[in-house]
Amino acid sequence: MSLPIVCILCGGQSTEHEVSLLSAINVFSAINRSHYTPMIVGVDKDGLWRLYPDGDFCLNSGDPSAISLNPNGLDVFPVHSAKGNYLMELQSGKTHPFDVIFPVMHGANGEDGAMQGLCQILNSPCVGCDMFSSAACMDKDIAKQLLACQGIRVAPGQVLHRTRPLPNLQQLIDEYGLPIFVKPSRAGSSVGVSKAGSLEELQAAIEEAFRYDSKVLVERRIVGREIECAVLGNLNPFAAVPGEIIPKRDFYSYEAKYIDEDGATLCAPAPLTEDETAAVQKLAVDAFRILGCRGMARVDFFLQPGGTWVLNELNTIPGFTRISMFPRLMQLSGLSYDELVDKLIALSLEVPVSQFK
Ligand SMILES: Nc1ncnc2c1ncn2[C@@H]1O[C@H](COP(=O)(O)OP(=O)(O)O)[C@@H](O)[C@H]1O
Ligand SMILES: [Mg+2]
Repeated sequence: MSLPIVCILCGGQSTEHEVSLLSAINVFSAINRSHYTPMIVGVDKDGLWRLYPDGDFCLNSGDPSAISLNPNGLDVFPVHSAKGNYLMELQSGKTHPFDVIFPVMHGANGEDGAMQGLCQILNSPCVGCDMFSSAACMDKDIAKQLLACQGIRVAPGQVLHRTRPLPNLQQLIDEYGLPIFVKPSRAGSSVGVSKAGSLEELQAAIEEAFRYDSKVLVERRIVGREIECAVLGNLNPFAAVPGEIIPKRDFYSYEAKYIDEDGATLCAPAPLTEDETAAVQKLAVDAFRILGCRGMARVDFFLQPGGTWVLNELNTIPGFTRISMFPRLMQLSGLSYDELVDKLIALSLEVPVSQFK
C-alpha cells in the first residue's frame, strides 16, 4: 500500500519567511518515512510555489541570518481533481499527487486562514487549525473579543483603524497608563510591537504599527510573567507542561526572539505551582475550544503578581524548530519532536476537511 504523501509548505510572503524555513527543515527531516512520504514546496516572497523533488529547498540552512529559499525549484501550482490532488509543473504539465498539506508557515497567507481556505477548496486535509479559527486567532482584536465574552481575561485596550479618525491619544494614556503597548492586530514575531513611554512615543508607535496592518491595538501594559502553553488535539485537546519566556531587556521583541542570542531565556518547564499549572492548562484548552482550534496552538499568557492570568494571544502555527517552545513543551509531556510531527499529521487526517461537517 502506498503511504500518504505529505506536502510541506514553507517560506511564504510574510515577514516570517525565514523563520518558516528554519521550522520546515526540522519538520521535513522528522517525518517518519515508514508512515508518510514527505514532499517539500517553498512559497517564495512573490507567492510562487516551488517543488523540490530532491528535497534541496534551502540555501545557507546552517546560518539563520543568511537562510533563503533555493530559487531553483520546479514552478508548480495546486490542482483539485476527481482523482485527487496534485501539484502540476507549470512548464511540463507533469503532475505530483499529494494527500495532505502541512503548512509550516507563519503570518499572512500561511497562518491566517488563507492557506487553510485553499486547502478546503482543494478538499485537502491540512495540518492544524481550519480557516475560521486560523483567521480568528491571527486577528488579535477578534480573538480578544471572542475570549472576553466567554469570561477569559485579556489586556484592556482599544482598536484603531487606519481609515477612521484617531482617538485623543492623551485620553488613551489617561485610561490605560504609561508605558502602553501598541501592536498590529494581525502580525507576529513582535513585528511592529512597541512599548511607548510618552505621548510622543505613543504617536510614533501607532505610526509604526500601521506600517504592518490597517488595524492596530493599543493596550494596557500587563505586568507579569510570560507563560506559554502548548495545546495538541482535536476533540479532546490536552495542554502540555507550561513554559516561561524571560525577556532580558524591556519585552519579548523581534530582536529578543531572533537576533540577540541573549535577548530572552526560554524556560521549560516554567517554575509554577501545581495549582498554577493546572489553572493555565485549563485556560489554554478553554481558549483553544472557544476559538474552534484543532490540531495545535500555542496559547500565551501573562501571570500577574496577584496570581491572575491574562491571555495574550494564540498562535496556530507556532515556531517549530527543534528548540522552539511548542515542541520542547510537548517533549516534556512525553512526545518527542518526531512523534509530534507524526501525531499532527494523523490528527489532520482524522477530521473532515469541510468546516460544516
Ligand atoms: N499588553 C501587554 N503588556 C505587556 N507586554 C506586552 C503586551 N503586549 C505585548 N507585550 C510584549 O510584546 C511581546 C509581543 O507581543 P504579542 O502580542 O505576543 O505579539 P506577537 O504576535 O508579535 O508575538 C509579548 O511577548 C510581550 O513581551
Ligand atoms: Mg507573541
